[in-house]
Amino acid sequence: MYIEVYVEVRAHIYMSRVMLMADPNIEALFRPRSIAVIGASRHPGKIGYTILKNILECGYKGKVYPVNPKADQIMGLKAYKSVLEIPDEVDMAIVVVPEPLVLKVAEEAGKKGVKVLVVITSGFSEVGNVEAEKKLVEIARKYGMRVLGPNIFGVAYTPANLNATFGPKDLRAGPIAFITQSGALGIALMGWTIMEEIGISAIVSMGNMCDIDPVDVSHYLADDPNTRVITIYLEGLKPGQGRRFITEMKKITMKKPVIVIKAGRSKRGAQAAASHTGSLAGSDQIYSAAFKQAGILRALTVEEMFDWARAFAEQPIPRGEKTIIITNGGGVGVLATDAAEEHGVELVVPSGKLKEEFRKTMPWFGSPKNPVDLTGQAVVDNYVKALEVAYESPEIDNIVVLYCRTAILDPRDLAKAIIEVAKKHKDKQKPIVAGFVGGYDTYEAMKILNRNGIPAYPSPERAVASLAAMIKYMRYRKKKEK
Ligand code: COA
Repeated sequence: MYIEVYVEVRAHIYMSRVMLMADPNIEALFRPRSIAVIGASRHPGKIGYTILKNILECGYKGKVYPVNPKADQIMGLKAYKSVLEIPDEVDMAIVVVPEPLVLKVAEEAGKKGVKVLVVITSGFSEVGNVEAEKKLVEIARKYGMRVLGPNIFGVAYTPANLNATFGPKDLRAGPIAFITQSGALGIALMGWTIMEEIGISAIVSMGNMCDIDPVDVSHYLADDPNTRVITIYLEGLKPGQGRRFITEMKKITMKKPVIVIKAGRSKRGAQAAASHTGSLAGSDQIYSAAFKQAGILRALTVEEMFDWARAFAEQPIPRGEKTIIITNGGGVGVLATDAAEEHGVELVVPSGKLKEEFRKTMPWFGSPKNPVDLTGQAVVDNYVKALEVAYESPEIDNIVVLYCRTAILDPRDLAKAIIEVAKKHKDKQKPIVAGFVGGYDTYEAMKILNRNGIPAYPSPERAVASLAAMIKYMRYRKKKEK
């Protein structure tokens, strides 16, 4: 009897694990086979119009069904009076009707067997309308449907060419996932990622998080081969969500780095968060301690979050602590050294032999210590030789390459050379970050670097801070894996 119960319990645990690993409802959020847009509008400028347009124009390959009782056709597609009339299975239904209609269309979606409901509509718990939100969850539970939102701008997943948002149409594909409780910030960042050459795998707007929360989404993304790093803009968690967040995030950070920017750090900020998404901002120290416990990296600014994410997205996780700085400017070298000390980045003290190797890469008045100063006279060849030494040396784990604009070295030529050397030594698994300081052509050089997998920053401090985040993550993983 005992054995039977034991086997049954084990089987149940196994099944729940299997289900957790591939929750089909969450899968439908990223890879729906068909989408209904309930409230698809005929009028340009409306949210229900833009969402349908984005889905159609971004190359989504599944079936798309506009639902609007007042229309026969929208954007050349047959429109349905209700989701129930669609003669096909519907994986995802996006709700873009005003709040008083939401529960009715949710009920219909449930009856239809929709897997995930993406509720764009505002006017729920964020404005005190808790009752309607509760009912929305009840309907979803009744039909085994999951709900994203309400009060969101949508979801995008570039590997499936899915842009079910009312944000910009274009997204740069890449390995960074962004989960955000702020819609406006998410939309703004969609444009910013293109400008900044940051590649996105997924953008998920969380809104009021009545059902699906960052943990559900992160679990999926942690197993997603198209995502290397998960970034989260968090205002706060609902009562009861905290413990689960920490326990589950501990598992997720063992698979992939998670960077969180937690807004509402100040007292006034916390009040603003409460009225924005109805979240409890809670004590900031508690959040900090919890994040640390779960191996989450906490960024304090949006810039910092994406700086770090860029490094994780493109470079291998460090294997060790020992870092070298290679520069053509003494000043930026010193600034990078200060930043390294501040962030706990260990600068290698080169052995006599290593110094000799570096000495061969520079003019006689250069410095082979750390920072390795190639001097303002440095040309591409000096950098290439110094980088070769750094990649080959067993004394070095991580590389920071710095550049100050000089008239004798075009930063774009240097960028191309760095890319080549890094490619040649890819197997060494040594992360490299670049800090380039200068004018317009230097900015162009950074773009070239970023486009080719070398995280580049406009200051030595930002380059070092990004490497520091990677080292911090490596330490956490090593400690936990022991
Ligand atoms: N099923 C499907 N469609 C229906 C419908 C039904 N039962 N009843 C009406 N519709 C249609 C309307 O006819 C309209 O289409 P049309 O423009 O072709 O006539 C469409 O649905 C939208 O309805 P409408 O009344 O025009 O609403 P709206 O577009 O002005 O506003 C929301 C709807 C959801 C956008 C709005 O209520 C809202 O919540 N806005 C805030 C969204 C937001 O900011 N979210 C958070 C972002 S971070």
